[in-house]
Formats: sequence, C-alpha cells, structure tokens
Amino acid sequence: MPVGKGDASKGASLFKTRCAQCHTLGNGEPHKVGPNLHGLFGRKSGTTDGYSFTAANVNKGVTWDDETLFEYLENPKKYIPGTKMAFAGLKKEKDRNDLITHLKEAVRCSPFIPPLMTSPDEPSFPSRPHERRLFDDFHTYLIRFLSCLLLRTGASHTHIHTST
Ligand code: HEC
Repeated sequence: MPVGKGDASKGASLFKTRCAQCHTLGNGEPHKVGPNLHGLFGRKSGTTDGYSFTAANVNKGVTWDDETLFEYLENPKKYIPGTKMAFAGLKKEKDRNDLITHLKEAVRCSPFIPPLMTSPDEPSFPSRPHERRLFDDFHTYLIRFLSCLLLRTGASHTHIHTST
C-alpha cells in the first residue's frame, strides 16, 4: 500500500500515544524532547527555530511531505542514521497513513493559539497587564504564522526580526 489518505481521528489517537510525549503541534507551543512540529509540511528537515537538532537531522536535507514522512516514520533510525529521536517506528502502513493525515491538519500554519481562542470576550486593547500580555502573545503568534508560511514557500533562509 503506497502513501494514501488515512483516518484522521485514528491518527490523532496514534499521535497521542506514540508521539505526544515528545512533540507538540500547535503554533507557539513549546519544544519538548523533540521539536514543535507546527508548519512541518513543505519545510526542510532540521530548520525549526529555537530547537537544537543533531547534524544528522539537519544534513538529511529532505523536505517533509507525505512521502518523506511515510518513509521516515517507518524506521527513523534507518532513514536518518544518527538521529536522537528515540522512536522505533510505525511498522504498519495504515498507521502511518492515519498519522500523516492527522498531522497534515494539525500542523497547518495557524495564527491562533489556545489562550487567545479561549478568551474571545476579553476587551481587545492592552489597558491592563493581562490584555497587554494577550496583545504581545498575538504579536508573537502572528509573526510565527508568517514565518510558517514563508518557510513553506521555500524561503527557508528568511529571518524575521521583531522588537518586543
Ligand atoms: C522519545 C521522544 C520522541 C518520540 C516518541 C517521537 N519523537 Fe520525533 N523527534 C524526537 C527528537 C529528539 C527529534 C530531533 C531529532 C534529531 O535532531 O536528531 C525528533 C524529530 C522528529 C521529526 C523531524 C523534524 C524536523 O523538522 O526535521 C519529525 C517529523 C518527528 N520527529 C515526528 C515524530 C512523530 C510523528 C512521532 C510519533 C509517531 C515522533 N516523532 C515520536 C523525539 C521523539
């Protein structure tokens, strides 16, 4: 069975049990043992800001998409010898398709973050510290959203500088 469309909800539970202890998916969520995977598709391996990858991961130099992930996740240590990702792999093709289908939806470049989305009733301008914080967060996540889009269109050496 080649790379194909899988079952996103099965993929979500696979992610929870097999990947979530080491990876987050949302815009601006912290790195754990492994890098945050927001905006993964269309990006070169080992280019996530603020995470220190092994040279092996960086030098692999592949662009993450359905096909490269399908092969990588079967046996990460074989695909990237020297990786520090301690994960044996998903041997079943169906599991990999389910997981990749979920990932594709979950890591799509997004300007939104949970704290903003859970406070929709807040008055919107920074007159109190809490609002100031929301405003700063919004700024940060918007910049991350824009870099996510830029990285996906191949401008992988573009750096956005902000003064906060
Ligand atoms: C025990 C922790 C751990 C688990 C479990 C794990 N990973 Fe990782 N992952 C890592 C680490 C650490 C790296 C960085 C590897 C390096 O720099 O060599 C990584 C790297 C990656 C990368 C490469 C990212 C990039 O930008 O090049 C992808 C994609 C990835 N993991 C996906 C997954 C998925 C999907 C799962 C679940 C099926 C998973 N990982 C399970 C720790 C883990």
